Amino acid sequence: MSQIIIRGGQRLEGTLEVQGAKNSVLPILAATILHPGRTVLRRCPRLTDVDASIRILRHLGCEADWEDGALVVNTAGMNRWDVPDHLMREMRSSVIFLGAILARCGRAEMSYPGGCELGPRPIDLHLSTLRALGAHIREEGGRLLCQAGTLAGRELALSLPSVGATENAILAACGCEGETVLVNAAREPEIVDLQNFLRALGCDVRGAGSSTVCVRGRQATRGADYAVMPDRIAAATYLCAAAAAGGEVELTGVDARHLSTVTAALHEAGCHVSGDSGRIRLRSEGDLRSIGAIRTAPYPGFPTDAQAVLMAALLRSHGATVFVENIFENRYRHVDELRRMGADISVADRVAVVTGVRRLSGAGVRCTDLRGGAALLVAGCAAEGETAIGDIHHIRRGYEDPVRDLGALGADIRLEP
Ligand code: UD1
Repeated sequence: MSQIIIRGGQRLEGTLEVQGAKNSVLPILAATILHPGRTVLRRCPRLTDVDASIRILRHLGCEADWEDGALVVNTAGMNRWDVPDHLMREMRSSVIFLGAILARCGRAEMSYPGGCELGPRPIDLHLSTLRALGAHIREEGGRLLCQAGTLAGRELALSLPSVGATENAILAACGCEGETVLVNAAREPEIVDLQNFLRALGCDVRGAGSSTVCVRGRQATRGADYAVMPDRIAAATYLCAAAAAGGEVELTGVDARHLSTVTAALHEAGCHVSGDSGRIRLRSEGDLRSIGAIRTAPYPGFPTDAQAVLMAALLRSHGATVFVENIFENRYRHVDELRRMGADISVADRVAVVTGVRRLSGAGVRCTDLRGGAALLVAGCAAEGETAIGDIHHIRRGYEDPVRDLGALGADIRLEP
């Protein structure tokens, strides 16, 4: 199995263009189904989760191929509405295909999506919103059998602003007759990106980015040539690496407004951060201080996906920082791995307290999940000696090439087969 080896202690310097966003491209790939024709996706990151989506599209009878760095999808030949169990298990986001297949085919069949490292991740809200739009959904032997009949738009409210349930509802609503008004929708920038893509297809979606999204059901009328938004969590990861190791980096292509809670935390910790709608610059002496409590929350709150990398950045800070994880139950699995490097972290239920230590030392560690793996990259950049990171398939789900990207910023990092 491959490992990533980092020899820490190098300052990070230079400019990096941030990859396209995993959490945007996955729903957008499902949304390509709404238009029975060709769509070109630019800045599409090459991730194993994208490969899993491509396998689902091909199973459904669609074409999906890389051409000159873009992913070209043609769904004209779509001739199935079922997703087999082995493809559903590959990633949790496969459930986003449910709303899109229903909108296109009027029926869908799939099993529950893959298990998750972060604790229980129910899909009750996905199912209840689709039922509210008129889908009949039976659960039989672990399979979800969905018949749409006539989907009809209406006003519906989510009991909590789930990102995935919002995306599924928007996609299904595109296939409804009449208008759907979705209240308490998630406000993440990736929902706005999905809306922008759907509009490019000719769909009528408004309000994304606020908590009320309106969709006037209408079939997609045209294909699109679309660039996926930059990945704010990959950006947060590289900023945290530079904050922890020290250095001066500029990330391009990224919208600083999407990262305001993360950059505010890094500023409070002693980094100099500036940015606008196209770039973020960060300068750090690697000598950070502790900050006020970090509580993860739905956007625009502090992202749960950046909790682990910020924690890793603060391992050598002066003082103690409290983290409260409010979104997922089991999101501190990276803590044991960070402790192997000398970190002082105590965890009780949803609260973790990081007390800064003078030095971290390189160690053999394993990724426990995607963002936990990213935290090991950050800690490895700040540790003395060599860190060998195993189980890197978790990282490959969401980072195109962290060895290339951190290497471009001057980290001493390599992939060892
Ligand atoms: C998305 C992101 C993930 C991020 C998360 C929260 C993608 C591909 N993934 O995941 O990286 O960490 O948002 O920002 O975009 N919930 C229910 N019932 C449901 C659905 C969700 O109880 O039917 C709960 C979840 O257990 C969790 C909370 O709602 O506690 C938020 O989950 P949600 O926003 O749905 O996350 P995902 O869309 O799965």
